[in-house]
Amino acid sequence: MSGFNFSGPRKVPLVKTKYRRIKTEIPVKKSLPLFEGLSRYEARSMHGQMPVVWDHAEDFQVFDIYGNVWIDFTSTIFVTNAGHSNPRIIKRLRKCLDKKLLHTYTFAHDVRLEFLKKLVEVTPAFCEKAFLLSAGTEATECAVKLMRLHGQMLAPQRKGIVSFKGSMHGRTMGAEMLKGSPATNGWIGYADPNIFHLPFPYPWLVSADQQPGYDWAAHFRRDMEVLRKSGVAFGDMCGFMIESYQGWGAIMYPPAYIQELVRFAREHHMLVTFDEIQGGFGRTGKMFVYEHYNVEPDLLCLGKSLTGSLPLSAVIGRAGILDLPDVGSMSSTHSANPLCCAAALANLEEIVSKKLVKGSERKGRMLHQGLLALQKRYPEYISYVLGKGMVAAVLLVDPETGEPGSLMASRICEKAMQKGLLMVHTGRESIKIGPPLTIPDAALNEGLAVLAECFAEVIAEGK
Ligand SMILES: Cc1ncc(COP(=O)(O)O)c(C=O)c1O
Repeated sequence: MSGFNFSGPRKVPLVKTKYRRIKTEIPVKKSLPLFEGLSRYEARSMHGQMPVVWDHAEDFQVFDIYGNVWIDFTSTIFVTNAGHSNPRIIKRLRKCLDKKLLHTYTFAHDVRLEFLKKLVEVTPAFCEKAFLLSAGTEATECAVKLMRLHGQMLAPQRKGIVSFKGSMHGRTMGAEMLKGSPATNGWIGYADPNIFHLPFPYPWLVSADQQPGYDWAAHFRRDMEVLRKSGVAFGDMCGFMIESYQGWGAIMYPPAYIQELVRFAREHHMLVTFDEIQGGFGRTGKMFVYEHYNVEPDLLCLGKSLTGSLPLSAVIGRAGILDLPDVGSMSSTHSANPLCCAAALANLEEIVSKKLVKGSERKGRMLHQGLLALQKRYPEYISYVLGKGMVAAVLLVDPETGEPGSLMASRICEKAMQKGLLMVHTGRESIKIGPPLTIPDAALNEGLAVLAECFAEVIAEGK
C-alpha cells in the first residue's frame, strides 16, 4: 500500500442522483474520531482504503449515517458478488441464528452437507470433494500441502512448487513465500528451497506489433528451461500454484501460455492448482477464471465470494487428492462453521438462480467498453485496461516521466469517493474495479461517467 494520505474533511460539490448522494464534507468531520480510534487501537497495515465509515450496504450501494450514498465498485474486495446484504443470505443466516447453532467445530451439522453438495454441484466434474477453511491464505497453503503429499506419494523428493513472481496468495508465511517478492518477504528470513518462481507473462513483455503471432507456449518453455538451468530438476517438482489472474492489475495470462503449462504439468506428473479466491464465482463472466484458458486443473482454491459475506474458504478437487491427509491431520477450528456454510449455500443458490455469471459477462462487456473509451480519450495517462467480465484494472502512467502513475491512481480514487463512487485503492498504478454482479446497468454507466469526470478533473488540477 502506498503512503498516500487522503485529504482531511473538505467541502465538495453536493451530489444527488438516483444512485449517489453526497451531502456533507468528505470525509465527514464527525467520523474523524472513529478513524482516530482505529489508528490508536489497530495495526496501521489495516488502513489503506478510503475514509468512509460504512453504516450499511445493500446490493451495489454503501450508506453512511450522515446521508451519503456511494455506488460500490469494490464488492468490499471482490466478496459481495451477489450484492451486499443479499436477502437470501440474510434469511439463511437468520434461520441458523434462530435455531441456535453458532459453532460445531468439525462435529457434523446438516447445513454443512447441504452446502457441500451444492458446491460440488456448481463446480466442474473434477471437483468431487472439498476441504473447508476460513481464510483464503489457509486455502492456498492447504493446496500446497496437498500437492506436496501427492508428489511425495510418487517419489519422496517431489516437493517443488512453481508459482509466479508478484502473485497474491495470502498473507501467512507459506502464502507469502509463493509470491516470490524479496521486497515483502524479507521479514521471513529464509526462502523455502522447494518453492520456485516464474516471471509473470505480463502483456508489456511483448510489443504491440509482436503480440498477434507471439508464441506464448514457447515463452513458457523458455522460462522453464531457465529454471532447469538454475539447478531445479523437473522430477523434483509436484505442482503449479497459479493466481488465476494477477490481482493488482487484473492481469490474465495468455491462454496459450497456460495451456502449455498444463501440458507440461501432465507430462511431468505435476498437479495444477488455480487460486480462484478473487476471481471465482462469476467475477470474470465465467464461473471460474481458469475456464478462459480452456484447461482442466486438479485443485481450486476458493474464498471471498464463496459466501459473499462471512469468512469461509475451500480447496476442492478430486477425492483421491483431497483424501491424502489422514483423518484429523487437516482441520481448522472455524472451518465449516454453520453460519458460514449457511451463507455460502444461500450465496451459491443466488448466483445460480439469478444467472449472475451470464449477467457478469454482459455487464463486463459494458464495463470494459466504457474503460476502453476512457483510454482512447487519455492514451497518454492510461497504459492498459485489463481484466475480464466484472473485474477491471486501469493502469496509469505518468506521461512526463514514464513512471507508474500511482499518485494519480490514488487521487482519482479519492476524487471518486468525494463524488459518491468507491473503487479499490491498490496503492499502485492501478485503479481496480469490481462492482457487485447485481449492479443495474444504469448504475454501472453512472459510475463509469463519474470515473471519466474524475480523470478530467485530476488531469486539469495537475496542470
Ligand atoms: C488471489 C488471492 N489469493 C488469496 C488471497 C488471500 O485471501 P484471504 O485474505 O482471505 O486470506 C487473496 C486476497 O486478496 C487473493 O486475492
